[in-house]
Amino acid sequence: MDETNFPNAPVTIVAIGGGNRTNKYLEYAVRHPERLRLVGLVEPNPLRRHALAEKFGLKAAQCFEDYACFFRHPLQADAVLIATPENLHFDPCMRAIEAGYHVLLEKPIARTLDECRTIARAARSKGVIVGVCHVLRYHPYFMRIKQIVDSGELGQIISINHNAAVGIDRMTHGYVRGMWRREEITNPILISKCCHDIDFLLWITSSRCRKLASFGSLRWFRAENAPAGSTDRCIDCPIEPSCPYSAVDLYRTRRDWISNFDVPQGATIDQVIDRELREGPYGRCVFRCDNDVVDHQTIAMEMDDDVTISFTMDPFTLDDQRQTHIRLTHGEIDGDERTLRLRWFRGAREKIFDFSSIVGTPFHAGADLNLIEDFVHTLACREHDFRTSIEQSVESHRICYEAERSRLTGQTIRLDD
Ligand SMILES: NC(=O)c1ccc[n+]([C@@H]2O[C@H](COP(=O)([O-])OP(=O)(O)OC[C@H]3O[C@@H](n4cnc5c(N)ncnc54)[C@H](O)[C@@H]3O)[C@@H](O)[C@H]2O)c1
Repeated sequence: MDETNFPNAPVTIVAIGGGNRTNKYLEYAVRHPERLRLVGLVEPNPLRRHALAEKFGLKAAQCFEDYACFFRHPLQADAVLIATPENLHFDPCMRAIEAGYHVLLEKPIARTLDECRTIARAARSKGVIVGVCHVLRYHPYFMRIKQIVDSGELGQIISINHNAAVGIDRMTHGYVRGMWRREEITNPILISKCCHDIDFLLWITSSRCRKLASFGSLRWFRAENAPAGSTDRCIDCPIEPSCPYSAVDLYRTRRDWISNFDVPQGATIDQVIDRELREGPYGRCVFRCDNDVVDHQTIAMEMDDDVTISFTMDPFTLDDQRQTHIRLTHGEIDGDERTLRLRWFRGAREKIFDFSSIVGTPFHAGADLNLIEDFVHTLACREHDFRTSIEQSVESHRICYEAERSRLTGQTIRLDD
């Protein structure tokens, strides 16, 4: 950010939800207190509320257990960050807009297309900015793809294959045992996980989708696929030593996906893992959860300019990254977040960009911090628009909702009617 034109006073923000995402974005306030200051927090979990209040020096009057109370006693602030679970986006967002705050809203926007559109309309009529957290637009690798496509050096896009490899551990943790396992609690996985991918595809094609069809189902993580002799919890299960989805192996042995387990004062992370395995949702057998989101899905899209796109969401893989292959009139781009390769048809010319050193680095390889910086800069300087406006995000959400309609009805959906 250009220091010379940044105003003297920091942008002030109230966070609604004090979990994983909020902590990521607030790192920017830690690094740049002169640009962003947390002035209020709504978080029902006392451990998280107290930890953040202490870290940012918030007084009791600046902390709330629920957002209804905050909106009854609103604090002076420029913006509200909404990073609550997905079923709690629409209501606080509408209240924040109504109260005149600018909003940084975690994806997905809301749980239905109508709600998404209502938020966009309300923001327009109130004249406030609602930015949606599509982090891929701020990630160095994805930004490079956008820059190459926009430069025209490989001509115009003809077709794209894009694959979001969710990864088997992320799937069992988040979408079978965890927070995003049921549509009624959150959203279909396409919206929870892949609205970023659809946003990315619209962003790089600078085009609108004309027609789509989608297929997919919950094929594997169902009760009837439970191995004979398996039990409700991995910790008691005779099949556990050979089961690829074992919670004991994931959390206790490999210690993966444990960063969001709260460790109360006086307890250790090992005790928390043990309790989770014995009593918590994360200790359950993957075939005996109450999950209903699909475990594989594909979409075929035709865009306004005749570009065709095929997109797949694949949990059954050890990979946990996105792969994109773009075919253009003068060459092709293919990448897997580690390497980005450009090849020209004429002269067998090739160029490679190596991103391997940033794979798995904190804050989505810095994208989270770039995103919050863009939001702060948009509010402070009013020189440019935030990179993902609510209107653009509504369009990508619309495609996800329509893809779900296609999957459930078996129809090809026209979006230009
Ligand atoms: N942009 C991304 O890359 C990205 C990545 C992960 C998650 N997300 C999205 O961010 C959002 C938050 O996810 P997270 O991983 O931070 O989850 P989290 O569970 O770590 O944090 C959510 C917090 O909201 C709190 N909360 C629950 N009810 C509340 C209420 N009524 N008022 C205020 N706070 C309440 C919870 O106690 C929790 O601390 C979700 O919508 C998720 O889909 C986005």
